[in-house]
Amino acid sequence: KKIRLIGVKSEIGAGTRGASLGMDAIRIASLDFMSNFFDRFPVEEVETENRLLFEPVASPYAKRIKGMVDLYDRVSKSVCSALQEGGFPVVLSGDHASAGATIAGIRMARPAARLGLIWIDAHADLHTPYTTPSGNLHGMPLATALGEDNRECQVHAIDENTARQWEQLKNTGNIRPKVSPEDVVFISLRDYEKEEEHLIRKYHMKVITTAEIRKQGAEAVAQSVLDYLDGCDAVYISFDVDSLDAAISKGTGTPVSNGLHEQEAGELMARFMRHRKVCCFEITEVNPTLDKENRMAEIAFGILQRSVNVWLTN
Ligand code: ARG
Ligand code: MN
Ligand code: MN
Ligand code: MN
Repeated sequence: KKIRLIGVKSEIGAGTRGASLGMDAIRIASLDFMSNFFDRFPVEEVETENRLLFEPVASPYAKRIKGMVDLYDRVSKSVCSALQEGGFPVVLSGDHASAGATIAGIRMARPAARLGLIWIDAHADLHTPYTTPSGNLHGMPLATALGEDNRECQVHAIDENTARQWEQLKNTGNIRPKVSPEDVVFISLRDYEKEEEHLIRKYHMKVITTAEIRKQGAEAVAQSVLDYLDGCDAVYISFDVDSLDAAISKGTGTPVSNGLHEQEAGELMARFMRHRKVCCFEITEVNPTLDKENRMAEIAFGILQRSVNVWLTN
């Protein structure tokens, strides 16, 4: 089995500009560390829709959703082929919206599999066009994977076009839903809106706080997460760098305090990547334009390199 790096330099799902430079910033960090990582694992780049950033927004409650439908199609196909060819896809994405496409790609390759998700993030990313506070699609990838509209909490009326494109996102790969809420684990979740909280409570979704990790230790928590997901056939890990504490995550669009330390994140990832069911890993939301001295990308690269090395020595 082979590591397959997939680059998605897209930022149309984010509200702040610059995340499309995240992958290049990670590459620069690797050079700073004199690592040959990107020579060993060449990046297969997916074509993006960033030119839409020059156009006025058509749907205020799902900004640039047309581009996202096209991006979901390309990213899901590329993740699907990497898996079908026996590879382990590692997705380096700009903003977190693309994670919905990654999940679609996994299910396209493994239509019969019960998929578990480990969502390491300050945010729940469970919004829908009907509930979003920002219209930014990076706040919605998990809802696309769950096939969720959350109409019980509806705050906006959506036009027909947007509603149809939202259906397309949820239906990517013609599998819906792609995951069930009991197979999702949030790690370090701490910044969410009441509409998202409604879903977490309604479905009794599993949430692990930063405090629990500090108390029990990363290793023990990681083991309990894997035990919780025992009934799943495959597991995907989504690592949003804003899961890290705001003190070390300046280089991301939506930093939040009370997050993970670098060491804790590294230990969690190292334990997860030793598990044979883990089939794909994504690292996202590095924005070097907001940063100083490329710190966020350096931390992201450290976590990426450690994760890949653990997987390779398995
Ligand atoms: N919940 C907020 C929103 O919908 C923030 C989402 C941030 N998501 C992220 N992937 N950084 O706008
Ligand atoms: Mn996120
Ligand atoms: Mn986040
Ligand atoms: Mn430095």
